[in-house]
Amino acid sequence: MENLLQLKDKNIVVMGVANDRSIAWGIAKSLFEVGANVIFTYRKERSLMKLEKLMAGYEDQEATFIQCDVNSDESIKAAFDTIGAKVGTIHGIVHSVAFANAEDLKNRFLETSRDGYAFAQDTSAYSLIAATKAAHPYMTEGGSIVTMSYLGAERVLEGYNVMGVAKAALEASVRYLAADIGADNIRVNAISAGAIKTLAAKGVPSFNKILNRIEESAPLKRNVTQAEVADMTIVMLSHLSRGVTGETIYIDGGYNIMGI
Ligand SMILES: NC(=O)c1ccc[n+]([C@@H]2O[C@H](COP(=O)([O-])OP(=O)(O)OC[C@H]3O[C@@H](n4cnc5c(N)ncnc54)[C@H](O)[C@@H]3O)[C@@H](O)[C@H]2O)c1
Repeated sequence: MENLLQLKDKNIVVMGVANDRSIAWGIAKSLFEVGANVIFTYRKERSLMKLEKLMAGYEDQEATFIQCDVNSDESIKAAFDTIGAKVGTIHGIVHSVAFANAEDLKNRFLETSRDGYAFAQDTSAYSLIAATKAAHPYMTEGGSIVTMSYLGAERVLEGYNVMGVAKAALEASVRYLAADIGADNIRVNAISAGAIKTLAAKGVPSFNKILNRIEESAPLKRNVTQAEVADMTIVMLSHLSRGVTGETIYIDGGYNIMGI
C-alpha cells in the first residue's frame, strides 16, 4: 500500500489539531502510519501543549510544531517560510481550521453581524487561499491540498448559519484554486465530513440533534468516525487520487444523497 500511496517521507503540513478529537489529529495519525513527515501548525499555546502531549505516544515519530494564526497574513507567511526552510519541499497541506463567533451560530441568521460574517469567512475560507499562497513557492514537486467542509455549505442546517456560508465560499475557493494551480500539478479538494463530536462541533447548538438525524436517515444508518474521515483524506493526499482536483468528496455515510 505504501507504494500505491507514495506518501512515505513526504512533507505534509497539518493545520488545526486542538486535541485528540480533532479531525486533523485523526489525519496525522493516519499519516504516521503511511510514513509521512508531519509538520503541525497550531494557533494557541494550549494547542501546542496538547500536541506535545499527544506526540508523547509516538516517540519514534519526528514532528515539527509551528505557530500559525490564519487570521494574520504575517503569521501564515512566517509559518510557511519556516516550514520551507526546514523541510525544503512541501508535498501536501491538510487545512482543518474554522471558526465563527458563538452568537452568529446561536442567533437567527437574520441577525448575522457584518463583523461576524467577515470573521467567519476570513478564518474558515480565506485562510485556505492564504495558506496555499504561502506554501506555493515550496510546492515545487506538485502536491495535494485538502480542506474540511460540511454539508451546511449547500443545505440549510439549523444552527450552522454563518458557517454554512463560509463553507460555501470554501468549496468555491477549492474550485478556483484547483483551476489556478493545477498547471503546477498541485491538486486542491474538499472533504465534506459527516458530523463528529469535536471542540468546533460544540459551537453548533443543534449538534446532538444532527447526530441523531443522521443515524436515522443516512444510508449507512450511523455517523462516521474520525478515522474514516482521516482515511479518505489520506487517499486525497496520495498518488491514488492523482486524477482528482477541485472536488468536494462526502464522507458522511451517504447522508447527503437523501431527500426526506
Ligand atoms: N466536527 C464536525 O462535525 C465537522 C464536520 C465537517 C467539517 N468539519 C470541519 O473540520 C475542521 C476541523 O474541525 P474539528 O471538528 O476537527 O474541530 P477542532 O476544534 O478540533 O478544530 C478546529 C481547529 O481550527 C483551529 N483554528 C480556529 N481558528 C484559527 C486561527 N485563527 N488560526 C489557526 N487555527 C485556528 C483551532 O485551533 C482548531 O485546532 C473545521 O474546518 C470544521 O469546520 C467538522
